[in-house]
Parts: sequence; C-alpha cells; structure tokens
Amino acid sequence: SGLLLGHFMRASGIDAVIVERASAHHILGRIRAGVLEKTTVDLVERLGLDVRLQAEALCHDGFNLADGERLIRIDLADLVDKHVTVYGQTELTRDLMDACDERDLEVIYEVSEVAIHDHLTDNPYLTYTSKDGSAHRLDAEFICGCDGFHGVSRQAIKAKAGNSFERVYPFGWLGILADVPPCDPELIYANHSNGFALASMRSTSRSRYYIQVPLNEALEDWPDERFWDELAVRLGPGPAENLVRGPSIEKSIAPLRSFVFDRMRDGRLLLLGDSAHIVPPTGAKGLNLAASDVHYASSALVDFFLKNDREAVGDYSRKALSRVWKSERFSWSLTKLMHRFPDDTPFEREMQRAELDYISASRAAQTSIAENYVGLPV
Ligand code: PHB
Repeated sequence: SGLLLGHFMRASGIDAVIVERASAHHILGRIRAGVLEKTTVDLVERLGLDVRLQAEALCHDGFNLADGERLIRIDLADLVDKHVTVYGQTELTRDLMDACDERDLEVIYEVSEVAIHDHLTDNPYLTYTSKDGSAHRLDAEFICGCDGFHGVSRQAIKAKAGNSFERVYPFGWLGILADVPPCDPELIYANHSNGFALASMRSTSRSRYYIQVPLNEALEDWPDERFWDELAVRLGPGPAENLVRGPSIEKSIAPLRSFVFDRMRDGRLLLLGDSAHIVPPTGAKGLNLAASDVHYASSALVDFFLKNDREAVGDYSRKALSRVWKSERFSWSLTKLMHRFPDDTPFEREMQRAELDYISASRAAQTSIAENYVGLPV
C-alpha cells in the first residue's frame, strides 16, 4: 500500500518519501497471496505500471468450492460478468519497486527506530535511524501508516481514540510453493473432514497449496510427502488425480486472524492496509483491501493538495471502513464455511453441509459469493 500510494502521489506531482524497515531483497523474497480484484488491477493500470501484469497474469473466470463429494463451481463470468486476476503480490511489489527511480519516488530501506510525532498538529514528522546509524527527521504534511499489523502507526494513535475488534482462529494455514503445474486451471477451496485445503497457483507452472493445521503444529512434522498425501485426501478424488507433486521451494505456517481498528485517520496520520485491519486469507482479500484503502486515501490527499479540499481527508476513515467491514464479513463467513473448528458440534457441521448444499443449487447464493469474491465496488 505504501508503494502504490507513493506512486499515486508522484503521479499528481505531490512529494512522497517511503521509509521502509526491511531491505528490498527481503521484501522480494516474501511469498504473499496472488488473487487480484479488478479494482486492484485498475489502480495499477491507472499508473501505467501494469505492463508485465497484463502480459503474465492469469485471468480466472471462476473458482471452486469442494465439499468432499463434489466441486461447486462459482462461475464469476456468468454470475457477475467479472473475473479475478492471478498474479503474485510479490511480483506486483517488484513492478512498483522497479518504477520508483523513473517516477522519482524515493524509498529509504532498512531504517529502524521509526517514531511518529505531532500527528494531531498540522506539522507532523517522523524520526528514524538509517542503515548507517545516523538519526533523521522527516517533516511532512501527512504521514500514511502502511506498516502492517505490528507497525508503529496504529500504536501512535491513542487506544481510546478508536476501537479494536478481533477474532483469532484456532488453526493456521500450512502453505507450500512448488514448481509443478496446478492440479486444476482454477482455485479450489475444499472443506474436508480432516480440515480445509486450498489449491492455488502463481502461474501455469508454479502451484501454491495450503492445508489447515492446528496452531501448535511444527514445520518439521510436515515433510513434503506428508503434505502432498494430506492435500490429495482433502482436495478429493478428482483434483487428487491431477495433482503433480514436486519439492517445495517454500513452506510456512500462517495464523489466521480477523482484526479491525475503526479509526483509520487520526489528525494527519492515515492508516492503510494491515496496520488497520487483518482478514483471514480465505477469500484473498488482504492485498485487495490495502489497495482499496489506497484508492480512498490517494483521492483524498489529491483533493487536499490540488483542490485545497480538506473534507475528503476527514471522510477517509468512514469511506474505507465501510468497505473494510464488508470484506471482513466475507472473509470470516468463507472461513467459517470451509474450516473445521475444534469446538464445532455435529450441529455446526450439519450447518456447513447444508449451506454448501444450498450454495450448490442456488444461483442467488452463488451470485452473492461471486460479487464478494471479485470485489465490491469502491
Ligand atoms: C494464494 O494463492 O496464495 C491464495 C489464493 C487464494 C486465497 C488465499 C491465498 O484465498
């Protein structure tokens, strides 16, 4: 969100500096999600930074829910006349980073001890220590906190100024990346009695797979063969037949959390992306929500600087949160529908089964899932 917002500022002739804790190398080595809503692609296109994305991304007209017996295809093209774009977040980040020099967007990498000062006045500033150990002060008109859930930005806002809402899920996702062709041309979200599984991809030759695991699970307990065996069981006989196994090139466990801090602007400090909200990955909304925050924040800041209009910034939090809460709802409901919760009774299990049965036969239910999956309007 920082890179995207920075590029929007520079495209309007507004000065922007990005202060980043990690190194460029570290950022480009992280594996992130890979499903982009049209709203996200549109933002990159407006910047003219979508050349590689348009050439390499996969266009998906649908995805599947598996319930142990069948695949329920959610036909996005037919139901809502839209598609999603499969392109790794890391690749998008690389494209935005590569364009910084030519667009005169300065990024200062590997800083530490970042602190936000005076954001309730008209003259906020940042202090930080750069890689060589020197101390710096950066004065600005606005500070945009794109520094994630554990960053300093949200913590700079008095807890009393907003409310935090949180749900921590009692399981994680064990994910692997492998250079093998995907088992299906589209994504499959599977609800199996052993737990959830997801078949995803980065390209036609690189697959990304996940399985639900208990939170205390250790990576060492999941050698590749065990992962592939379990994945095949959970995806069900059809997809399992087409599953191509190969050595994992990345393997990690991520916890699942829903979180909202309902004050996304405090004076001259704006929060974007994970600094203000977290969604569980079911539904692939994390990156897309960060991008829609950029949509609202960039237009508010452009109105402020180029039209001398202060109201738009004042309305940023309300506008962004309205979309955030709807994405939170969708991610939470898909998580509930597709996972095995340790405390679920047989009744809850029947509710999942009945809901999947209902979805399989109801165009109305499928349309609701489809319009959320492709992304609600901004
Ligand atoms: C991924 O490809 O990493 C991915 C796809 C869809 C999701 C979550 C993650 O819902």
